[in-house]
Amino acid sequence: MSEIPSDVAFTDDAVMEKITGDLANSGYSIVHDALPPHITEGLLTRILELGTRDFRPAATGRRSSRQLNPFVRRDRILWLDAAHSEETTFLDWMEKLRVALNRRLYLGLFHYEAHFAHYPPGAFYKRHLDAFIGEANRVLTTVLYLNPGWTVADGGELLLYDGRGEEILPRTLPIFGTLGVFLSEEFPHAVAVTHRDRYSVAGWFRLNATLKAQM
Ligand code: OGA
Ligand code: MN
Repeated sequence: MSEIPSDVAFTDDAVMEKITGDLANSGYSIVHDALPPHITEGLLTRILELGTRDFRPAATGRRSSRQLNPFVRRDRILWLDAAHSEETTFLDWMEKLRVALNRRLYLGLFHYEAHFAHYPPGAFYKRHLDAFIGEANRVLTTVLYLNPGWTVADGGELLLYDGRGEEILPRTLPIFGTLGVFLSEEFPHAVAVTHRDRYSVAGWFRLNATLKAQM
């Protein structure tokens, strides 16, 4: 009998099957331990070695209305950079997910972009949509959480709302290895005030590639 490393106990195919099924049913999917641990651990290592000095306050709006708005969001971000193997390994996994989503759901996803996010204690992100309606820019949002040992008392939950503004329960704790995926134009969402440093990688599948600086 051969030993199966726990790393591959849930195959990528099974995880991607679950995500496509959930998206087809409800438009969102929350999966624990979605990626192989070496990928998630590599991203955490990368964040810890970066420290947070290279992170910049995240802005809201686009082009002429783009501004820093600390009443809306207080996270600090750093775009992923394909020059680092931990980041490329993650982007490769997302490329595999992109292909699976297009094959099963005909979403026509073309491009993926992602940034690290750091919410210092006291930070939050008020209710918002990630897509600019009618522009078909961001189709699908992904958020991968990188916080070992997170508890309810630490706050920082992802809150998802349906089209009527009703909160979809349960709230998602940003626990290490949990991946959230949802349709960007259909689900308003928020990040509750965090009481601990909260790390994640937020990303978007798009129909086209535009300059990040314009978003
Ligand atoms: C975002 C966002 C949610 C989260 O970056 O746009 O909504 O749980 N993130 O970090
Ligand atoms: Mn968002």
